[in-house]
Amino acid sequence: MNLKTKITLSTPKLFFKKIDEGFLNQSRSSLIQDVIRRKNQPKLNFFYQMELVNGTYALQSIDVKSLAGEYGTPLYVYDGEKIVAQLQHLKNAFSQNTLKVKYAMKALSNISILKLLKKQGSGIDAVSIYEAHLALRAGFKPEDIQFTPNGVDFSEITAGVELGLCINLDNLSALEKFGKKYGNTYPCGLRLNPHIMAGGNLKISTGHAASKFGISVHQLPQIIQLMNQYNININGLHMHTGSEITDTDVYLKMANLFFDTAVHFTELKFIDFGSGFKVAYKEGDRITNVDELGLQLGRAFRDFCKKYGRMLELWIEPGKYLVSEAGYLLANVNVVKATPSVTFVGVDTGLNHLIRPMMYDAYHEIVNVSNPNGEKKIYTVVGNICETDTIGTDRKLNEVREGDLLAIKNAGAYGYSMASNYNSRLRPAEVLIWNGKAQLIRKRETLEDLLNNQVEVEI
Ligand SMILES: Cc1ncc(COP(=O)(O)O)c(C=O)c1O
Repeated sequence: MNLKTKITLSTPKLFFKKIDEGFLNQSRSSLIQDVIRRKNQPKLNFFYQMELVNGTYALQSIDVKSLAGEYGTPLYVYDGEKIVAQLQHLKNAFSQNTLKVKYAMKALSNISILKLLKKQGSGIDAVSIYEAHLALRAGFKPEDIQFTPNGVDFSEITAGVELGLCINLDNLSALEKFGKKYGNTYPCGLRLNPHIMAGGNLKISTGHAASKFGISVHQLPQIIQLMNQYNININGLHMHTGSEITDTDVYLKMANLFFDTAVHFTELKFIDFGSGFKVAYKEGDRITNVDELGLQLGRAFRDFCKKYGRMLELWIEPGKYLVSEAGYLLANVNVVKATPSVTFVGVDTGLNHLIRPMMYDAYHEIVNVSNPNGEKKIYTVVGNICETDTIGTDRKLNEVREGDLLAIKNAGAYGYSMASNYNSRLRPAEVLIWNGKAQLIRKRETLEDLLNNQVEVEI
């Protein structure tokens, strides 16, 4: 899959084939300019993934089994080079625009990961005041933090103002309170709900009419009325329609809505397209073609800015795209349990550490790191939580034995950040591989952590 991406990016012949398939309304000369631009961009290495080298699974040349040996299991491991390559890919795709990437830190909020992304020039999308505090601790400037909480008490918004964050409001009630309190002394952006159904499944679709997120685009008259009444300085418009959007037309539809809306606001600095860029979770998965998106959306955006009379910044807020594929959850096989109908592989992790399979029916590829040449057999991989806790059903894996090490892929996004202590189990350690070196970036929890903050009373 990655290999295909590499070829598409760097080969003009295939690029023109893509043009024939979809870009017929683009002028020939601008197409040629795009091809030249892409050819001159630095080539990216898309092989940042766990690979089998001489019979041993390795990540950035580090033996995966040795990581489990050193830090124990379950263990989250992140490949920093992959994160940076993904960021670079987005920057290249939108290189003709004034792009600002605001990493959606809800996907993975370890402070060392934040620091890594800061060093690479990313900003932050924070959705709680505590995320904002973590980002500040990682060294982000307040103005580089887009703060988009939803359903919060107004005091959380004023706390964001006090920190100097970029405020993004998602309801009319907050806009009115904001206008009353700040007038035009502090700018704010608006999260709009475009009434577009998009995203991998309903739970991760956030821009449709029945979604709790954003101010409906049909409430533009009320927005304008409040803006005029309180002289509010609205400096940005934002939409995030959902996660795992493979159809680039969704972003073009959003763009048209933005452009129609933007003309009512004279003080805009940016338009924020949110995220939803999908990566592959398994071989053959459809992904968001960010190169095509960069070309089409980027051009429409530049054309709009000419009409608007000023070049605006184009913002995006990738979470999954940056960190999903970079992460692996390593787990030890506790038990192989053959029943008359199913052979279960029971591992030392579960929905407490990676909830996506149970919450979203998400598919995460599983690899038997210990036995790469073993005969392929069918297994159902389950966690050790007292709850139906299936990580993968009917998976073809190299023969699994008790004590083997499994790697669960695409665990970087919404893995650790959604982990819990359910069943009073400890959350795993986290390791970052960067510059060819593995470093512990979070210790494994202990019993003390479970007791911390509990107040024992005499009964
Ligand atoms: C406002 C906002 N921006 C960005 C994201 C990141 O989305 P993704 O992980 O699909 O890139 C989310 C995800 O929930 C979000 O709610």
